[in-house]
Amino acid sequence: MKKIAVLCSGGDSPGMNACIRSVFRACTNNSIELYGIKNGFQGMIEDDIRSLNTNDISHIIERGGTILGSSRSKDFVTEDGRKVAQKNLEKHEIEGLICIGGDGTFRGAQQFSSEHSTKVIGIPGTIDNDMFGTDFTIGYDTALNTIVTAVDKIRDTASSHQRLFIVEVMGRDVGFLALRSGIAVGAEAILIPETPNYLDGFLDRLSNRRKTKTSGIIICAEGDESGGALEVQKFVNKHFPHFDTRVSILGHMQRGGSPSALDRVLSSHLGYAAVEALINNKDRLMMGWVNGKLQETPLEKAVKHHQKINKELLSLAENLSV
Ligand code: F6P
Repeated sequence: MKKIAVLCSGGDSPGMNACIRSVFRACTNNSIELYGIKNGFQGMIEDDIRSLNTNDISHIIERGGTILGSSRSKDFVTEDGRKVAQKNLEKHEIEGLICIGGDGTFRGAQQFSSEHSTKVIGIPGTIDNDMFGTDFTIGYDTALNTIVTAVDKIRDTASSHQRLFIVEVMGRDVGFLALRSGIAVGAEAILIPETPNYLDGFLDRLSNRRKTKTSGIIICAEGDESGGALEVQKFVNKHFPHFDTRVSILGHMQRGGSPSALDRVLSSHLGYAAVEALINNKDRLMMGWVNGKLQETPLEKAVKHHQKINKELLSLAENLSV
């Protein structure tokens, strides 16, 4: 294999640049030319593809976002779009493709590789941590730390004013960010999609809690069945009008920032392994990190399954909340 391309797709996540750097180094060490595709699959369709050099990747390990840009391409969902994308890769004589992204990215990559000869390797990059076949995804640890820093600050003002804050964190369908950050900040309650009907029991807990505490933090995943932090606030206000409540929606700040050391190391491992997999003629795999070791999972399997929430963490959160 003489030419490989790399792209980032879906929501960006801190550590994607560290991963691109590692892919570049692995290519250089193996006399492979690396091409960067701008803005995900859309750049593949629009032929926004160019050879990367040392300058492109110098001092990017510490930078958040992605130097390649990212998108959720609608054109790539169509067979015609994917045909154009393959033609463009052939034009540049690119034989291997590395896709960094989440489950939507992998669904696109899986479909593309089932129709075309280009070898495809996926690397899990999303702050949501919802990918099957890896304990952690690139960006999750950084986002967790961002949330913890933000909520610690909110806690200061919450206790000064005896207020109950409902903090909404990202996680469209899953509660990984909410669960771990909730434990880390000592949240009074954690609302996640994986534990439905939580709000019912939550009422009793809150009424007991009122006797002892006046301020507090509730962490709510955006995808929780309650409908998000604003809905939880309405619910609390209705049942406990005496609580002084405030909502803080952390939003996209969770996706930015310099990657943590853990994310940089994870990104470096997975990026290097992805190139080695292509060199070894492997195809349609996702590189993951399980129990401290590299693990390869067929893309098909990775898109079919979802990582399950850790039950021990769930019960720890229950035991530690009010
Ligand atoms: O997939 C990562 C993620 O950050 C989710 O947690 C969130 O729901 C979504 O992306 C937000 O997407 P967008 O940037 O398109 O608003």
